[in-house]
Amino acid sequence: IADIKGGPDEGLDWVGQTLVVMGWVRTLRAQSSVTFVEVNDGSCLSNMQCVMTSDAEGYDQVESGLITTGASVRIQGTVVASHGSKQKVELKVNKIVSVGKSDPSFPIQKKRVSREFLRTKAHLRPRTNTFGAVARIVKEQGEQFCVTTLVPSSREAAESPVDAIPKTKDGLIDWSQDFFGKPAFLTVSGQLNAETYATALSDVYTFGPTFRAENSNTSRHLAEFWMIEPELAFADLNDDMACATAYLQYVVRHILDNCKEDMDFFNTWIENGIIDRLSAVAERDFVQLTYTDAVELLLKANKTFEFPVKWGCDLQSEHERYLTEEAFGGCPVIVRDYPKEIKAFYMRQNDDGKTVAAMDMLVPRVGELIGGSQREERLEYLEGRLDDLKLSRDSYWWYLDLRRYGSVPHAGFGLGFERLVQFATGVENIRDAIPFPRTPGSAEF
Ligand code: 4AD
Ligand code: MG
Repeated sequence: IADIKGGPDEGLDWVGQTLVVMGWVRTLRAQSSVTFVEVNDGSCLSNMQCVMTSDAEGYDQVESGLITTGASVRIQGTVVASHGSKQKVELKVNKIVSVGKSDPSFPIQKKRVSREFLRTKAHLRPRTNTFGAVARIVKEQGEQFCVTTLVPSSREAAESPVDAIPKTKDGLIDWSQDFFGKPAFLTVSGQLNAETYATALSDVYTFGPTFRAENSNTSRHLAEFWMIEPELAFADLNDDMACATAYLQYVVRHILDNCKEDMDFFNTWIENGIIDRLSAVAERDFVQLTYTDAVELLLKANKTFEFPVKWGCDLQSEHERYLTEEAFGGCPVIVRDYPKEIKAFYMRQNDDGKTVAAMDMLVPRVGELIGGSQREERLEYLEGRLDDLKLSRDSYWWYLDLRRYGSVPHAGFGLGFERLVQFATGVENIRDAIPFPRTPGSAEF
């Protein structure tokens, strides 16, 4: 919508074009022969006024009350000049599709609601004008947005068992049992909070510190690390993998183009040949394969692993490195569709009932650089998964609300920033990729 309405002609240069708008219904007004649907996609303050007559495909979904305030929709139409005084152009609807309906209890209806009230709905307030605008100003100023580091309870307790090794209470670092009277914890990931913004503003990202009580003394684990977490709305696992690939290639290309002197230094003193290897990564297609195929490859490998492989096991660093370094000659590898038992509760179940739409990007020397997934956007599946894992629906009430009011297919990933630095510079130990490494027994500075 920003692309259309943000130009000098306020959209008049788009007249005659057919396009698709995906977003959330702000208001619906039915008049005798036409219905006006105001749609916002978070790209700008303005809504797209979509004008619909009864001959539009999908009109029955409006008539039957499936599409209401708060619902998510996909609308195809033609840009026409508007007779109204509020906007230069509007969309004449050819087709409207309900993506996610909104429960009638949607708390942010048209009437003005107080800021105090909205603070109690912090997961939905990005869908209001004020909070959308605040987020866009933050983005313009800093290009950096960190959701939060302090959270009330466990977020990803059902993360893979490997991540859940010795941690303190609830799988998180115990910040304080008494944070102004309530316990609070340091977050393991900004994802769930970022989802509240993606389901209001479309594509977003958060970049901030995250914490894991990792007691593993390895060259790729820190207790405090920074994570870049994009979250894409109206997106599936393929979109997610494409975004992750494009992102890594962009960063690598940028470093090679803009940091020549330092890269020559790394090439000579730290990792011989790193420039050539990074150049190849920036150019080539990444390998994609399913977890099931990856397991097959590992079973066939002429190699003894410390951890034996079988379907259902989590891939260990040695397996990940074998795949990217040996099986595919140094090419980054994206493994997808992992068994649901070893992945987090929020990942979208595949039709086979056994796997989820998860992906990990593996790169040479580092192993897992990126972990991501398509999120479960179907309320009843998500609730079922919480029940299976004996996680309380109550503590995820706000996360479930995102599926109750205008749910959309969405996907995202987390990229460990220090692992990226490790990969891009060749430094062997992740402790040398961050100013003050926090690892077991090391926090004296
Ligand atoms: O695979 P992880 O645990 O994924 C998540 O936390 C998701 N919630 C991300 C998302 O989908 N938004 O972590 C993501 C990445 C890993 O691939 C790895 O690069 C890095 O974070 N990472 C660590 N880096 C350093 N030290 C650790 N202890 C790390 N644990 C994960
Ligand atoms: Mg992971």
